[in-house]
Amino acid sequence: MKKIQIQSELDVYDDLSELPKDAHELMLAAFDARDAAYAPYSQFHVGAAILLDNGEVIKGNNQENAAYPSGLCAERTAIYYAGANYPNAVIKMMAISAKAKNKETLTPIPPCGSCRQAIAEYEVKQKQPIEIFFMGERGSVFKSDSLQNLLPLLFTQEYL
Ligand code: THU
Repeated sequence: MKKIQIQSELDVYDDLSELPKDAHELMLAAFDARDAAYAPYSQFHVGAAILLDNGEVIKGNNQENAAYPSGLCAERTAIYYAGANYPNAVIKMMAISAKAKNKETLTPIPPCGSCRQAIAEYEVKQKQPIEIFFMGERGSVFKSDSLQNLLPLLFTQEYL
């Protein structure tokens, strides 16, 4: 028996204003998306914005449902829209922001496991990494250079 170690490296920005210009603008688009979320059950509003290589910005937010499992996260709402409408575009970057209605959300909120798997599919498809920036409603921002950092031992088409 031997052990293997899996390491991930993230960049941490103290504040939105430290982000590169394109990421900063994308995060503001994620704020907009977040504020339009339909989240009457959790009161947890999430917004995601995606920058494509053609300059288009795609916005998505969580869409909840009275039948709870029928709802969808912000990240997948956005990335499936991008995949459906711009199938040949390369996804360069995703920005995510979350805000709870009843308390301040100051820690960076990462994409859930299902969203990581969904984002990974597009990274594999386009053979180019997707930069992921995520934060709460204000405060520090985490950046991952690739989805792979957030989902080690990725399950991909190569196993099928
Ligand atoms: N949610 C997202 O939109 N993205 C995530 O990555 C985590 C969770 C949403 C789903 C649900 O509407 C609410 O946040 C509470 O889980």
